[in-house]
Amino acid sequence: MGDAVKAAHRAMWATGDYPALADEVIPDLGAELVRAAGIGRGQRVLDVAAGAGNAAIAAALAGADVVASDLTPELLDAGKAAAAGLGAKLEWQVADAEALPYADGEFDAVLSCVGVMFAPHHEATAAELVRVCRPGGTIGLLNWTPEGFIGRMFGVMKPYAPPPPPGAQPPPLWGRPEHVQALFGEHVAEVGFRREALRVDLFEKPGDFRDYFKSRYGPTISVYNRIADDPDKVAALDEALADLAREHDRGGPTLSMDWEYLLVTARRAG
Ligand SMILES: C[S@@+](CC[C@H](N)C(=O)[O-])C[C@H]1O[C@@H](n2cnc3c(N)ncnc32)[C@H](O)[C@@H]1O
Repeated sequence: MGDAVKAAHRAMWATGDYPALADEVIPDLGAELVRAAGIGRGQRVLDVAAGAGNAAIAAALAGADVVASDLTPELLDAGKAAAAGLGAKLEWQVADAEALPYADGEFDAVLSCVGVMFAPHHEATAAELVRVCRPGGTIGLLNWTPEGFIGRMFGVMKPYAPPPPPGAQPPPLWGRPEHVQALFGEHVAEVGFRREALRVDLFEKPGDFRDYFKSRYGPTISVYNRIADDPDKVAALDEALADLAREHDRGGPTLSMDWEYLLVTARRAG
């Protein structure tokens, strides 16, 4: 991936307020991944595309020796501040998931919570996750599914988004067991897949969800920036995002949605 594409991705994730979103909407997912991967005291753990440390901080609080790595330094800085407030000690390093700056087999466990799915070259990323995990170590991933709410949200935004860079694959494919299995192939054993859902009760109305994402979530902000000169497109996307939330509403006095994800755990073969 060229430097310009990387710089654009970094800028996109630094836009808005992703750390607030992670803290307010999906804080349970980091801890869920850490539990599913059996992370505990004495393990050396890498969180890839860690953002502000959703999984990394949970792993450090569970007693592991943790490195949180991400493409976007602004998110790592936010994570550093949050970790200090919680008394969690861990390292924070800028790194590209497609070319990790770590030695072969350096970690007992390699995790990513709705993270590596956003690196565009899936095979390169999967190969790096396997390479830095020691044989017998654990790989744990939590990925939004294509059919779930966030996968569908990317589908709704797609007609308004710039074309993906050449060779890039769609993020929600990482939410398909067959895709993940094909990426890791014989390099992993004891692969477990679990479909789960995150209950999201934070927004009162469908429009509240949309407006929250419009001001905080980099990928949504960048799509709106691209169509800012076209009020018809803005209105159509406004409506489509609110409709998506409406469709996922479980019913009740305020909006309540389930956002599906795939939890993957595997042992590094060899
Ligand atoms: C949805 S956020 C998830 C962050 C965090 N894991 C969490 O659970 O909140 C996606 C993250 O992927 C990171 N990212 C995107 N492309 C990346 C790449 N090529 N290498 C490393 N990180 C990347 C972004 O900077 C962002 O922090």
